[in-house]
Amino acid sequence: MPDIVTVIRRKRDGHELSGTEIDWVIEAFTHGVVSDAQMSALAMAVWFRGMSRAETARWTTAMIDSGRRLDFSALGLRTVDKHSTGGVGDKITLPLAPLVAACGVAVPQLSGRGLGHTGGTLDKLEAIPGWNADLSTAEMAEILTDPAVGAVVCAASADLAPADRKLYALRDVTGTVESIPLIASSIMSKKIAEGTGALVLDVKVGSGAFMKELGEARELARTMVELGADEGLHTTALLTRMDSPLGRTAGNALEVREAVEVLAGGGPDDVVELTVALAREMLEAAGVDDVDPADRLRDGTAMDRWNAMIAAQGGDPSAPLPVATHTETVHADADGVLSELDAYAVGIAAWRLGAGRERQGQDVQPGAGVELHAVLGDRIRAGQPVATLHTDTPGRIPDALAALREGVRISDTAPARQPLVIERIRA
Ligand code: URA
Repeated sequence: MPDIVTVIRRKRDGHELSGTEIDWVIEAFTHGVVSDAQMSALAMAVWFRGMSRAETARWTTAMIDSGRRLDFSALGLRTVDKHSTGGVGDKITLPLAPLVAACGVAVPQLSGRGLGHTGGTLDKLEAIPGWNADLSTAEMAEILTDPAVGAVVCAASADLAPADRKLYALRDVTGTVESIPLIASSIMSKKIAEGTGALVLDVKVGSGAFMKELGEARELARTMVELGADEGLHTTALLTRMDSPLGRTAGNALEVREAVEVLAGGGPDDVVELTVALAREMLEAAGVDDVDPADRLRDGTAMDRWNAMIAAQGGDPSAPLPVATHTETVHADADGVLSELDAYAVGIAAWRLGAGRERQGQDVQPGAGVELHAVLGDRIRAGQPVATLHTDTPGRIPDALAALREGVRISDTAPARQPLVIERIRA
């Protein structure tokens, strides 16, 4: 039987771990035989030395096998899911899941809560009065097969890839999150265990993303697409820009409001563009080519699905959304063009206002966040409102303001227009 100190030393010294070693480490860590300290050392060795394709694939399979694997194939439905590597103002799942369901493909999505400057889909949906993230597999199946709904977004149960759950919590506090094999195996173990029939990845690139550089985002996307293919899961990826926030809001209830605007046929252009691009990709992955999702947004069927999807999970889609008790508006101090609106700065500001959490398990403020009154490239006049900060804790405003100011620049020259969708990656 392998022993953990030898495994750590071998990875530290740049050797390739065997399949037996990987299976044993993941199993022993899941059951507490390998300690958190030992797994942290191994994660750091992986951070420095990386893992080969074979190691990453075996690591992913071992994490899937540490728990339960859902299987919706008996429902007789086409299913497809989308996963984003995380960005600021990324509320795309909210309009996307009902939109794809309205096009005839079921969406079973297990999502997470936010940590740090990127928001979590469950936190956003939990801003809707009554909405419940915790469903059993039978409840998921019932919603997926309901012809009036067909989309479900809920929390992953504790027995889905439990090794990843434990390892991710450790990586978060040991500086070992930003490793391509560890991120890829973490995301793909959960998505494969979730039992979707096809998967589309939205891999973010830029200041507000894990991957700041195009080359590393491309490598992450390729690794995940290959891991999906290895497990027989049809997986494609879009590389999309995350230098500025998506849309005009970052924060839970604020983002729900914007998602509903998109479903009503309005909303910011970039949110609409990415929602439709990902919907097209998902439909293609599911083998559907006779419907254009843009039509389903226009004709209101996606909005009907949204209302049904929220109600199916106990939410009241027509209830007023929570509003923060305090606001502060930031005004431009000069005439010019908004030449920088940094996603990371806006994400940190929203987080400091109470939209995100510092530790797992903390509550978030549903009404907190940043509302933008201008977007990159807009012409601005001195004194014009640029952003409004929302919070229930006014003492948080100065720190949030300081973060926001770091990321906003008004100058004489307009920034070069960059495409939102940069590249498509397939197996
Ligand atoms: N999201 C995950 O689920 N895992 C990672 O490692 C990074 C982002």
